[in-house]
Formats: sequence, structure tokens, C-alpha cells
Amino acid sequence: MSASANSSTFILRGARPYGGDPVDLVLRDGAVAEAAAAGTASAAGATVVDADGLVALPGLVDLHTHLREPGREDAETVETGTQAAALGGFTAVHAMANTDPVADTAGVVEQVWRLGREAGHCDVAPVGAVTVGLGGERLAELGAMADSAARVRVFSDDGKCVSDAVLMRRALEYVKAFDGVIAQHAQEPRLTEGAQMNEGALSGVLGLRGWPSVAEEAVIARDVLLAQHVGSRLHVCHVSTKGSVEILRLAKERGIDVTAEVTPHHLLLDESLAASYDPVYKVNPPLRGKDDVQALRQAVADGVIDAVATDHAPHAAEDKEGEWANALPGMLGLETALAIAQEALVETGLLDWAGVADRLSTRPARIGRLAGHGRPLRAGEPANVVLVDPAVRRAVDPGALASRSRNTPYAGRTLPGRVVATFLRGRPTVLDGALA
Ligand code: DOR
Ligand code: ZN
Repeated sequence: MSASANSSTFILRGARPYGGDPVDLVLRDGAVAEAAAAGTASAAGATVVDADGLVALPGLVDLHTHLREPGREDAETVETGTQAAALGGFTAVHAMANTDPVADTAGVVEQVWRLGREAGHCDVAPVGAVTVGLGGERLAELGAMADSAARVRVFSDDGKCVSDAVLMRRALEYVKAFDGVIAQHAQEPRLTEGAQMNEGALSGVLGLRGWPSVAEEAVIARDVLLAQHVGSRLHVCHVSTKGSVEILRLAKERGIDVTAEVTPHHLLLDESLAASYDPVYKVNPPLRGKDDVQALRQAVADGVIDAVATDHAPHAAEDKEGEWANALPGMLGLETALAIAQEALVETGLLDWAGVADRLSTRPARIGRLAGHGRPLRAGEPANVVLVDPAVRRAVDPGALASRSRNTPYAGRTLPGRVVATFLRGRPTVLDGALA
């Protein structure tokens, strides 16, 4: 790092866009100004960032983040959650609606959106609830949220499934008017009453009530058919089973307008961790079998799964420590997502860095209709950029995370890669691996 700190021009010297040949990426006035031959760019007053060996990607976009504000500021706030996002290489996150109060009105989504703007670490796109209070009985004011300053395009009752087929149909029909999408948390409620972990031989051994794959797959099958019937757009949250991948593949072959995401933890971890009875591994949907993990990785590589989305779910210690059965489900994700994508997808040869950019930036931005994000790294595009050092390996230290919560399942685990810098419209939010 050198030269004047407040200049609005940055030269990312020797950066490798999408892992390709090194160039000098010049960011000026919020946009990518040029990609010059490596070592040649200069500009008066520019800040030069030594990006030798660093991979440059478009700023990451998360489709599924729980920021917990309003209501559970003891677990996370918009400020701390978006700090975690920037440190993880994200320039935009979708803030889930299961807050308290629920984000089911224009007033609440505007509040979250405004808090995001004030924090300034990344863009915050609020997700609107599908039903009032996530109650699953009456549609929320989807149109008013879409028309609000927050311009909501993604609607979800995440944490709960929109299990009523008539309501789901109406929601799908309603959002067509403003090009919205329903993001379904696919969980048949009756099949998962009291469920604690993946249903299988292990749940029997451990004496924990099972969450069967069919409870996810049945809802996805119904919803892709509903989406086809009404000609609307469906997104499936946190796909976790091999069977779900097969249904999505068939739906896409039929031309149904469905997209899907998988979490980093479902790409790396499996149900065997439940044998520890450590609630840090309790998550919804649950960690599945090794075959499921393999099928999910392959589906990301094939593009049947469009996006990796974190489902960053911070929880206060009192809700996460103690007995498995009483713990709330969920894991931190923002600060480790890119590292896990590197380990599970890049280092396995399933995806190159251009593929990572597509699944963690381009496609999620498109699904969320975030026009300024997920754009290619070329002249004239908004300068949303992350620089990652793929050569570093380091152990995850929960105490060093920016999130207000500590429920990472990767404590002490060595993961590859390090986010060195993040730029939001040409302004650094992270430099030298720390908040700028
Ligand atoms: O594990 C989860 N945690 N899954 C969800 O669907 C909700 C989330 C939360 O809000 O904690
Ligand atoms: Zn969910």
C-alpha cells in the first residue's frame, strides 16, 4: 500500500481477474476505468495496491443473510453483519425477513435498507416476508415493499416454509407484476415436526428426531410445478439433498424459471458431525450425508444450482450453547464463504475462479435483480471488486470475526484463501484484510 490515502483512484497492480493473467486494474470515480498491461498503469495521486498474485473477482453477492436487526441486536446488527460481509468479500447482501418485527411492511424494509446505507460496508437489499408475520396465512404487502425505497425484489418466509399451496400460488402470481421472485424455504412442516438432524441410520443411533430429505424434495417438486403453472419465477433456498438436485435438473430441462442456492456448510460438512452433540452443527436444513454433499458440489459445477448463498445465521451464546435439542439452528457464514468455495469447488477442480465469480456474484445479483452488482471486471462497470490471496491457508479464529456472534462451525479449522481487499463502487471497505 502506498501513496495518498483519500484519493478516489486505485491501481490494483498485477491483479489476476478471474484467476487469469495479471493486469493493472484501475478504479476511478466508482467505476473500473481500465485493465492495463501489468506494471504499466499510473495516475496522479492514485493509491497503488500491490495485488501481485491476487485473484480479482466481482464483489460477492449473498442471497441469504440474517442480519438480525431489528429485534436481536445482541446476536448481530446491520453494522456488524455488513462488516462481516465486507471482510468476506461481499459488496451486497440480501437481509432475510425473519426479524422482530418481521420485515413484512414497507416501513421495516426501508428501515433495514437505510441502516445498510448508513453503515456503508456493503449494499443491503432487504428481503420482504411473503406472509404477514411469517404466519403462513395472509400475503404481506408485497407491492408496497417492491415500490418502497428498498425496491424489494426477493420475498421469503425463510426459517419457515410457505407450505399452503394456494398462498404460494398467489405469491408467485403477485410478484410477476414487478419481476420479483419467491425464495422458498422448502420444508414440509408436518414431516419435520420436532426434527433435529438428517433422518437416517445415524439419527436413529444418536436418538435425535430425523428431518427426512423428502420433506424438502416434496415442496420443491410442488413449487416448480406451481411456478410453471403460473409462469412465475421461483428460487429455492439452501438446497441440501441429492434428490432436490435431481428435481431441479428436471425442472430446468423443462424450461421452468427456477433458480437455487446451496450454502457453504452443505458443500463442506456432513451429518457425521452431529455425533458430537455440539449444537454449533445444528442447522436447518440439517447437514446431510456424504452422497448429498458430493451431489451438491457437482450441481454447482453443472450450474443446476445457480448460487452459493451463506445463510449466515448468527445466534447469541445463550441460544446456541447448551443442549442440542434446545439450541436454535444456524451457523455463521459470511467471513468463511469464499474460503469454503475455494476448498470445496476450486481445489477439487470442479470450478475455476470464473465459475466462482458466476456462482457467488453474477448469478446471485441477477436473481436478486441488483443491477449494479455481479458485473464483469471491465472498463465502464461499477468498481465492485474483491481481491483474494488463494495461496494463504489459515485457521479460523472465532474471536477475530467481525460478527457479533461466535457460532462458526469452522473454529480452529484451516481454510484456504484470504480476502485482502474489497471495493464498493471504487471505495475500499476492506484493505490489507481489515476494515478500511
Ligand atoms: O439454520 C437456519 N437458521 N435455517 C433457517 O432457515 C433460519 C436460520 C435462522 O434464522 O437462524
Ligand atoms: Zn431457511
